[in-house]
Amino acid sequence: MAISRRHPAALLAVLVVALGTTGAAYAAVAAGTAPKVSAPSATQVTAGKQLFLEGCSSCHGLAAQGSTDAPSLIGVGAAAVDFNVATGRMPMAGPGIQAPVKKVVYTPAEIAALAAYIASLGPGPQIPTVEDVSTADADLALGGELFRTNCAQCHSFSGRGGALSEGRWAPSLMKSSAKHIYEAMLSGPQSMPVFSDNTMRPTDKRDIIRYIEELQKQEDPGGYGLGRLGTVTEGLFIWVIGLGALLGVAVWIGAKSR
Ligand code: HEC
Ligand code: HEC
Repeated sequence: MAISRRHPAALLAVLVVALGTTGAAYAAVAAGTAPKVSAPSATQVTAGKQLFLEGCSSCHGLAAQGSTDAPSLIGVGAAAVDFNVATGRMPMAGPGIQAPVKKVVYTPAEIAALAAYIASLGPGPQIPTVEDVSTADADLALGGELFRTNCAQCHSFSGRGGALSEGRWAPSLMKSSAKHIYEAMLSGPQSMPVFSDNTMRPTDKRDIIRYIEELQKQEDPGGYGLGRLGTVTEGLFIWVIGLGALLGVAVWIGAKSR
């Protein structure tokens, strides 16, 4: 018996075909517009998990859930892992007020695997791509303005860093790469606030990076820059060292002529 058009199975068949074509069409369109981020492979995640168990779980917990020694890493995203491990901050040697920059322990492939594993645990900021950090069209003047309003209070106007409360410090940005600057803004390491893409647009981030790169290029025209902290340090230097030397000479001449 042939299935008539009125047959319930015919309706089902039409529905299945219609849903199938809509799904396929959507997948084709969605694939065309998806951001070009190479999805981490399953082997990368497995390798990352192994590295994590060996090198990080003692502090961050066996499932990265955190412990009394270290925060949970679920949802911090690949950017935070890349920043902390590729600048040598992680693995931390032991408890401390701030994770200092050390020699980098892992190879780039291992860092990518660790980042893939942590990203697989929960959604978080991705590692920025080369285009994300390209400063070719960035606005230097706007970058300077954004830097002075958002970053200078901690990193100083010259980007050379400064002391914070309770023995913490904001490091110098003179050696930071564009990628790590972007990642620091995305993840907000320790006492640094998070500048997510909702609060600070990616173009603003690129303007800031352009400005920091400009600061990195500048040399001190008058010799030793005294940290470029400005007139207060320069005045202090002249008062203490300059006047001190003059007084010393005056006393010496006075003692000689007696
Ligand atoms: C000795 C303990 C210790 C070890 C080992 C360690 N960490 Fe950490 N980690 C910490 C502490 C403490 C913090 C939070 C405070 C800080 O950043 O100083 C932290 C913070 C982090 C953060 C930032 C989290 C955030 O909220 O942005 C990441 C990412 C991270 N660790 C990844 C790793 C990875 C990956 C490893 C292994 C390669 C590792 N850590 C090994 C103690 C440790
Ligand atoms: C409230 C203070 C504070 C503000 C505001 C702040 N930072 Fe930071 N920043 C820090 C601290 C503290 C660290 C060090 C964290 C660590 O060692 O894990 C840091 C680290 C960094 C690093 C890593 C440097 C390196 O390579 O070792 C970069 C890059 C950076 N900040 C950029 C910025 C930019 C850009 C802004 C403005 C958009 C900004 N910061 C605003 C406190 C601050």
